[in-house]
Amino acid sequence: MRVLVTGGAGYIGSHTTLALLQAGHDVLVVDDLSNSSPESLRRVAELAGRAPEFVLANVRDEDALDGAFSAFTPDAVIHFAGWKAVGESTRIPLTYYRENLESTITLLEVMAKHGVKTIVFSSSATVYGDLSEPPFTEDAPTGATNPYGQTKHMIEQILTDVSAADPELAVAVLRYFNPIGADVSGRIGEDPRGIPNNLLPFVAQVAAGRRDHLTVFGDDYDTVDGTGVRDYIHVVDLAAGHITALEYLDGRKGSFVWNLGTGMPISVLELVAAFEKASGTTIPYEIAARRPGDVAACYADVSKAAEELGWHATRTLEDACVDSYRWQSTNPDGYATAEG
Ligand code: NAD
Ligand code: WQD
Repeated sequence: MRVLVTGGAGYIGSHTTLALLQAGHDVLVVDDLSNSSPESLRRVAELAGRAPEFVLANVRDEDALDGAFSAFTPDAVIHFAGWKAVGESTRIPLTYYRENLESTITLLEVMAKHGVKTIVFSSSATVYGDLSEPPFTEDAPTGATNPYGQTKHMIEQILTDVSAADPELAVAVLRYFNPIGADVSGRIGEDPRGIPNNLLPFVAQVAAGRRDHLTVFGDDYDTVDGTGVRDYIHVVDLAAGHITALEYLDGRKGSFVWNLGTGMPISVLELVAAFEKASGTTIPYEIAARRPGDVAACYADVSKAAEELGWHATRTLEDACVDSYRWQSTNPDGYATAEG
């Protein structure tokens, strides 16, 4: 299959591009590198033994996208491109609405122009918010509590509407829980700019000596040990989920939604302990106040993806910690560490 991957230079996109190439698919990445490095795709090519094609462009750039579709003639699109920092989205909401909504609308218009009928979209467990209790099934109520989450919720709605308007479309909405880990080679991984917002990259940077301690946001939740509980999914399992979703869509029409998670609730302190064990390091931490907007617990009911796609996570939390530490310790400054 010929797959156009927006945001393919980023964390999840690079792992999925690698998986697609390894599975024999041809890939064109469209990415503006606003939150990534071209080094990720260079390393993907090294690991896969062949390179994805690449167009440096914002997905909002209709002419550039049109040209990419004409030249590459994709069979399907995976749409990762988007801004994703929750806190930042509350400070610059219009940028989030413009980048995430405008790019998706442009992409769908260009797909329609070129007769491309298949799209897989990166949604998020953030759409479940605190509207019901976990484990969340796909038919749980959805909404949003911040502009980033609003864009995911709105794009899900847009996809439902375009799918209803064009019965030929095949749409997969994948709601990721908390992606962590890295390719087993240690050559590609998560490379956040500045201070990491997310728990795992922060912990990995403490383990690698780049930061002196972790701040744990709250120990007074109604959870196993008072700290926040999440569903951490290995990024390589997540990448595999995209290929499985593409295969499912092949020959089908309509709009589908699946949770991609493990279904296993893990607390902050449990994750810290797993990382210490996997890395042989000690992670000093301090307890602080809850982070505004956080929920106590968020984890998936994964039965729909298992039953319909035959997909489930196969890697453990320990695998993810080992792989993440390998990436972090061999690339202490991410892709900026060294060329080659
Ligand atoms: P990332 O920032 O590493 O990757 C996103 C990529 O898209 C980057 O390479 C960036 O340069 C590019 N990009 C952003 N806006 C663009 C635009 N308008 N045009 C072209 N390129 C653009 O993020 P990620 O963690 O790999 O996330 C990928 C997708 O998955 C995002 O849509 C994100 O919202 C979603 N998601 C991520 C998580 C998570 O915790 N990482 C969880 C749920 C959903
Ligand atoms: C996990 C747990 C924190 C950092 C976010 C987005 C969500 C999705 C995934 C994109 C929580 C605690 C964290 C730290 C801590 N992204 N924590 N100290 O908040 O579940 O989800 O990323 O769609 O939309 O909201 O992930 O990794 O930030 O936090 O104690 O320095 O770790 O309070 O309990 P979260 P996270």
